[in-house]
Amino acid sequence: MNPSGPIGVFDSGYGGLTVLKQIVKKLPEYEYIYLGDNARSPYGTRSFDTVYHYTLDCVKWFFEQGCSLVILACNTASAKALRTIQQNDLPLLAPDNRVLGVIRPTAEIIGTYSESKSIGVLATSGTVESASYPMEIAKFFPELKVYQEACPMWVPLVENGEFANHGADFFVKKNLHNIFEKGEAIDVILLGCTHYPLLQEKIKEYLPVGVKLIAQGEIVADSLADYLKRHPEMETRCSKGGTKKFFTTDSTDDFDNHAAVFYGKEVKSVHTSL
Ligand code: DGL
Repeated sequence: MNPSGPIGVFDSGYGGLTVLKQIVKKLPEYEYIYLGDNARSPYGTRSFDTVYHYTLDCVKWFFEQGCSLVILACNTASAKALRTIQQNDLPLLAPDNRVLGVIRPTAEIIGTYSESKSIGVLATSGTVESASYPMEIAKFFPELKVYQEACPMWVPLVENGEFANHGADFFVKKNLHNIFEKGEAIDVILLGCTHYPLLQEKIKEYLPVGVKLIAQGEIVADSLADYLKRHPEMETRCSKGGTKKFFTTDSTDDFDNHAAVFYGKEVKSVHTSL
């Protein structure tokens, strides 16, 4: 069993920083390391097998850094790789370590926001294809109607810093139009991709009045706090001291320039190879 180490937070790129930001706000006392697999992002358009192998490489990397607990702050990795890693790899690699995702904690609570019992999930093609959201949500809110819409252009718009520009309007309008055509009673829109909170202001411009827009950061942070309370054996293996380290598999200059926008603060990253 590892001695205590930082909590690992993972994303294919920058999106997980929107989740880390909320986790740090809620649980500032712990140490964190963040890894963005920027060299191989986006994950959202890749096959199950590719996302699984990429994510597994990253999980192994976190374990080598001494992390006992890793959060996949990426919906695509949570949808396409988490279950296999938890069931097949973890028992062999490090049976006492834990890897958690972002879909389950979101599914556990999302139904409480809806009065019409119809929600819309906006996500990457990979997350939509996996049907993870409808399946997970049905376990907690069987009466809830879940409509999905893949927004394959949104991650590139965000990654390229176009989220506040006019170019983004076309795709935001188009995907919102599509999802409300599928389910006109939708009164909650879930941003099921950790990149999408950057588009929140733009989305609000085109959202029908009265529809709630839900991002996952705070939900995941609350759920992690609850998990650590319920699992003191894991809590004691998470080191404290408030430090944060940022790693990227690609250019550190690019990472630092983008990361500040996602994380809300200047970031100095270190390059790593997997
Ligand atoms: N941020 C990831 C997610 O939440 C997707 C980004 C990507 O396509 O790599 O799904």
